[in-house]
Amino acid sequence: MAVIAEKCTNIQVTVLDINKEKIDLWNSDDLSLLPVYEPELKEIVSKVRNKNLFFSCDIEKNIAEADMVFISVNTPTKQKGLGAGYASDLKWVESSARTVAKFAKNHTIVVEKSTLPVRTAELIKKILEESNSLEKSECKNSFSVLSNPEFLAEGSAIDDLRNPDRVLIGGDDEVATSLLSSIYENWISKEKILLTNLWSSELSKLTANAFLAQRISSINSISALCEATGAEIKEVSGAVGLDKRIGSKFLNSGPGFGGSCFQKDILNLVYICRFYGLNEVADYWESVVRINNWQRRRISSIVIQKLFGTISSKKLAILGFSFKANTNDTRESPAIFISKDLFENGAILSFHDPKVSEAQIENILEKEVIKENNQSFEWEYQKDLYDAIDSSDAVLILTEWFEYSRIDWYRCYKLMRKPAWIFDTRNIVNPIEVKSSGINYWGVGNGS
Ligand code: UDX
Repeated sequence: MAVIAEKCTNIQVTVLDINKEKIDLWNSDDLSLLPVYEPELKEIVSKVRNKNLFFSCDIEKNIAEADMVFISVNTPTKQKGLGAGYASDLKWVESSARTVAKFAKNHTIVVEKSTLPVRTAELIKKILEESNSLEKSECKNSFSVLSNPEFLAEGSAIDDLRNPDRVLIGGDDEVATSLLSSIYENWISKEKILLTNLWSSELSKLTANAFLAQRISSINSISALCEATGAEIKEVSGAVGLDKRIGSKFLNSGPGFGGSCFQKDILNLVYICRFYGLNEVADYWESVVRINNWQRRRISSIVIQKLFGTISSKKLAILGFSFKANTNDTRESPAIFISKDLFENGAILSFHDPKVSEAQIENILEKEVIKENNQSFEWEYQKDLYDAIDSSDAVLILTEWFEYSRIDWYRCYKLMRKPAWIFDTRNIVNPIEVKSSGINYWGVGNGS
């Protein structure tokens, strides 16, 4: 919405949330308090805020005045009940649709932005139409529902929005579709704006994420084979990626994919396939998630095995807690799963991340590790990278933050307990430098 406001100065954009604390932070004079870290976001917000970009909790008034409402709420995997573990929980989407139905006036275009199971637009349409038919007033309100999935990736969100590969709009109401398209046409050429039917648009988003995640599981599966055979994953992915039909992007082997989308969307796809009796298709996509879980566990097992089969009371430095570089988002981060395994094996963990705060880590450990195990674990958070590494037996690089590729390994060697180890799950350090400092090296997919 910040980018839309930046690119379309004639459009007033208001971001609404029921969470007042969040809205206050978005309105804060101190721009370092914005709830989301994303390169360049701060600059755009400071440029357009209170000009044509507003943040508010006044839901009733703003929906009543809006010509177009984007539903952009979260759709996490259901934790209980029918479809638990696979289906998306649509309670926020449903309650947003009910709120829009309640307050909208005249004609309103409702755009689904959240990633949703195929045919969710139908649910939104039904809620809007049926609550409308209950209206007693003479002048009835009307709605058009469009699907406009978002393909931005975190960490490069602003650039992805300014220069998207494509914009997808699904819907059968030509007037509404061309209105939404005209917003994007302010900065994106028409050829890049694809118009499809509603269901194709919804399914395209799930399929795009499934394909991207599948590439990562594919390369991660080969990383294990490289380690077993003496091949180098970077050489293999380099050679494979040069084939134009395959392409070089999304072939970096790592500790498994994280983030709020990939696993959730694939599980959702699996659920839909099973619902339609397509069990082979469901099994195929589910294996992408299975390989991802296996890769995360593989990393912790290797660490334990290299440290003489035990990490009990050994101090391990965890470098990086976000699910990828350039974001403070930790949802489904491999660091959570790997730390959990390491804690359960008795390790003491020392965390460092340039953008994830101590409070964030504490909150996650409390919810996802301590509560589950019903016991506390020993850990610390260090603002300085070298303080985190001090007296550790091993360093694990779990996020590809640029500063981790510039670590002074000679300095680390002096600080660490011997034999010292570095486990580079992102292949960002120079193995020759590490080895010449005296530290033992392991890199994912690094067979030689
Ligand atoms: C993803 C999609 O890319 C985006 O189009 C969609 O809108 C939302 O989901 P995001 O989750 O923000 O975006 O990040 P992405 O860059 O796709 O990375 C996801 C995970 O895959 C990260 O944990 C990342 O480290 C990992 N990854 C990515 C790899 O392990 N190897 C790669 O080559 C690329």
